[in-house]
Amino acid sequence: MRRDGAGDGEFRDADGPEEIDLQGVHGSILREHHEPAEGRESVPLWFVSVIMLLVFWGGFYLATNSGGFRADVFVPHRVARPDPNAPPPAPEELGRRLYVRNCVLCHQATGLGVGMQYPPLAGSEWVVTDGSGWHREEHLVAVLLHGLEGPVEVRGRSYNGAMPPWKLLRDEEIAAVLTYIRSEWGNAAAPVEPEFVAEVRRRTQERRKPWTVGELREMGR
Ligand code: HEC
Repeated sequence: MRRDGAGDGEFRDADGPEEIDLQGVHGSILREHHEPAEGRESVPLWFVSVIMLLVFWGGFYLATNSGGFRADVFVPHRVARPDPNAPPPAPEELGRRLYVRNCVLCHQATGLGVGMQYPPLAGSEWVVTDGSGWHREEHLVAVLLHGLEGPVEVRGRSYNGAMPPWKLLRDEEIAAVLTYIRSEWGNAAAPVEPEFVAEVRRRTQERRKPWTVGELREMGR
């Protein structure tokens, strides 16, 4: 027994192959990593999923926010611009539109102005020029064309603000807006004709700044 045992032991000792440490050899090979290199790896699944989700979300977003791809949604100004072939608005309608666009902010839709800041047009002796004061239609047109500043009296109250000039409006437009304010809110004065506006514009064409009351009173004397 002992000899056998010793023999076995000796045999193993003498014959190397049985003793090679396979684990150890493989272990050191397994520890070696390949050098990183570009290759044709398959795309990771999570990445494909993210892209698919983004594409899906993009489609959903477009469907809900595209406005049906209607031209008047995407180029609103071009379509909203008035049709050049449409008939021009009647003077009353033009006057109302011009008032809403240019004057309503200060003089208000009621024509009553704002407190001590913006004077009223309703019942104003500047607007109806009924002979109750020194005002004439010429002054009204001149104020619209070139503006007004400094202390003024309207319906017995004092104001000291600045009214911007509107000389960029055409004669017909000035006439239309003046005709409008002379016939609204209980005002009942005669219409202002574009020819009259043209005449006052010609006479005051040298004017570069707003009028003061003193200058207007001197006008046409
Ligand atoms: C930025 C504000 C503002 C806008 C916009 C404006 N006004 Fe005035 N307006 C005034 C002020 C302020 C006065 C008084 C000026 C002063 O105190 O010297 C005035 C005075 C007048 C007067 C003479 C006084 C009176 O109350 O009757 C008339 C008429 C008038 N505006 C008409 C118009 C018309 C028409 C428009 C539009 C085309 C217009 N205004 C736009 C501020 C404005």
